Formats: sequence, structure tokens, C-alpha cells
Amino acid sequence: MTIQWYPGHMAKAKRQVMEKLKLIDVVIELLDARLPFSSQNPMMDELVKDKPRLVLLNKKDLADPSVTEKWLRFFEKKAFQALAVDAQSGNGIKAIPSACQTLARDIMKKMTDKGMKPRPIRALIVGIPNVGKSSLINRLAKRHVAKTGDRPGVTKAQQWIKTGHGLELLDTPGILWPKFDDPLVGLKLAASGAIRDEILPKEEVALFAIDFLRRVYPERLKNRYTLQGLTGTNVEIMEAIGQKRGCLKAGASVDYGRISDIILNDLRSGKLGPISFETPEAVNKSHTVV
Ligand code: G4P
Repeated sequence: MTIQWYPGHMAKAKRQVMEKLKLIDVVIELLDARLPFSSQNPMMDELVKDKPRLVLLNKKDLADPSVTEKWLRFFEKKAFQALAVDAQSGNGIKAIPSACQTLARDIMKKMTDKGMKPRPIRALIVGIPNVGKSSLINRLAKRHVAKTGDRPGVTKAQQWIKTGHGLELLDTPGILWPKFDDPLVGLKLAASGAIRDEILPKEEVALFAIDFLRRVYPERLKNRYTLQGLTGTNVEIMEAIGQKRGCLKAGASVDYGRISDIILNDLRSGKLGPISFETPEAVNKSHTVV
């Protein structure tokens, strides 16, 4: 779902997340394993402050496993608990309750020291739209939990979902906006499908994808579209793929819209293999990732 984020929406989303944070012990921050930096809300640190945080790299099935390993080590070095998961299939999610228990140990101890009865740990799932928050809630709840409209401001009474492993979740996740300041981040978010096609012209996104693939995964690009080589401009490569796929308009000119759809669908669905759009080393030093 596309959301146009305006300052008013952002302020409301921030307020809502802050209200929810008061109710919970642990924040589960959902990032896209293919682009953990770009899929992180820019205000995350400020919002979460010292609340224990579990970082989940979701959609690990679509990400390059060796790069995901690097990201896990990167987060661990920053003293964050981090796990890679696939909320669609449920792969990796069994480790979430015990990770939350470890993170909330001090809070729980303080409560029992004060003579309070032990209770399940309470967590909130937070992330940008389409990162997999609802899929994860459904997987942990083992049932379908109705999705609140992906708009800051659409509210309903909050309920706790029992996961059966000493962990309760707020049934409505915290929805936050992605980074907007850097055009490269926007292109990565669009290429991965994290933001939908209406935001950036799909041809521009597909050309970015070609440029990225020829630099980082050239063999996969060649093999998928049976290209002899990868010489010429990105537009020429797009045209060659268009010719191969018969995406032609009257007069035999390439239909750039159709071939862009094909390339982006292939990329997003994993047909070009598991792909990571960024590595911890490559993320610009002026940026900060948590
Ligand atoms: P959100 O609540 O954060 O907005 O995200 P949501 O769970 O709705 O997930 C967004 C899309 O990402 C969904 O696909 C969902 O199936 C997919 N998804 C979530 N987690 C994973 C994962 O770990 N791996 C993969 N491959 N996909 C994942 P959709 O096409 O928008 O909808 P659907 O038809 O699949 O439900």
C-alpha cells in the first residue's frame, strides 16, 4: 500500500508509536534484510531511546545470505540482539520469544524484586510499511490478525496477542516512515518493492536495478536474460532484455514500461536469486545505522 507521508502524518505516527512504547518492555524493530540501512526509520534511535530492542532482518529468503551474516555481525557489534527471519514462511521466528526474554531480563527481575507477579513480556513490532509487520504478527500469533489500515491515524482498541512463549504482542504494529533524504535510498526502497511503483517512475527504478545488478550480480543478470555480455549503457541493456522478452511496441521499439515491470518483478520475487542492496561497509560513512 502506498502512503504519502506528510509532516502531519509523521508527527501523528511518531506520537502513536511513543504512546505504544509506554506499554511495552521490548521493541521489535523490523528491517528488510536486503536493505537494513535504507529500511530503517530515521528517528528510530530517538524514539526507542534505552528501551531494549530486538532487530529483525526480515525477508531473509530474498536476501544474499552472506551479506545478511555481515549485517547480523554489524548489529551485534553495536550491542543489539539481531536475528534474520522469514515472516512469510515462519523460518527463524522460533528464536524471537527467547531473544525477547533475554532482553527483558532486567525489567522482569526488577518487577519480581518488588514482589510483583511475573507476567509475559510485552513487545511492539515497529517498522516501515511493507516490511512484514503483519506477516510476523500473524506468524507469532499463529492466526490471522486483522491488519489496520497502513495509515498513521487509523486506530482501534489495542489488544495483546499471546504467542504462547511468555511473549505478548500489541496487535497493532508501530508504522513509521522510511528515509526520504537520500535519492539512492529511495531507489533501493523502490527496487526492493518496499515502496510502491507510484512513487518513482518504474523505468527509472528498473534502470537503477540494471545498474546495480551489472555491478554486483553481473552473472545473474546475464543468465536470467541470456545476454551475451553487459557492454553499453544501462538503457541499451534494458533494450536488449526487452528484445529478448518480446516487449515491443508497434514499429518494433522497446516497450520500456513492460520490460521495467518484468525486471522489477523478477528482482522482487527472487527470480534473480537472493539479492542484498547494501552491505554494512558500503553504507556511506556519513550515515548512521543505529
Ligand atoms: P507490513 O504489515 O509491514 O505492511 O507488511 P506485510 O506483512 O503486509 O508484508 C508485505 C509484503 O511482504 C507481503 O507481500 C508479505 O507476504 C511479504 N512478506 C512479509 N514477510 C516476508 C518474508 O519474510 N519473505 C518474503 N518473501 N515476503 C515477505 P504482498 O505481496 O504485499 O502480499 P501477500 O499477497 O503476499 O500477502
